[in-house]
Amino acid sequence: MAHLPIIVAPDPRLKARSMAVERIDATIRTLIEDMVATMYAAPGLGLAAIQVGVPKRIIVADASEEKDGKGLLRMINPVVVAAAEETIELEEGCLSLPEYYEKLVRPKAVEVRFTEPSGAERTVTAEGLLARCIQHELDHLEGMLFVDRISALRRNIILRKLTKAKRQKLLKSA
Ligand code: NI
Repeated sequence: MAHLPIIVAPDPRLKARSMAVERIDATIRTLIEDMVATMYAAPGLGLAAIQVGVPKRIIVADASEEKDGKGLLRMINPVVVAAAEETIELEEGCLSLPEYYEKLVRPKAVEVRFTEPSGAERTVTAEGLLARCIQHELDHLEGMLFVDRISALRRNIILRKLTKAKRQKLLKSA
């Protein structure tokens, strides 16, 4: 399994809306396993395909403490079929916004339907950290980052700092 480079914001690719997976073939399955390896290595709780430059509706997530694979979800074309009315404020981070964390309010629980790499349909009811992680990753499929859900002022500060960090990295490698 390969570790894929993760795109860091600001980057126009992260703004793209991802397309549905029409057919689950070997390329898709390999991509998913590479995403899993990349997510665990980062380490992160979740990863959307667009974060490794593939605009397809695929996310992987593991919000468990153990990270032994039992809590791992590989979701193709995930759709939220129900969301709790009750909301909760939790801190979010993102592998595409390294080192930035913000508190966001979202539904406490969600029910999500998706296709597994085997082709099987599955519905999962997620709460707590997993529910938060799934909602965050689903935003990526719409070209949205968590900073798009906070104030423009705060967002601009974060994106400006990331732009500066990228420029310094480029200068160093030049
Ligand atoms: Ni993210």
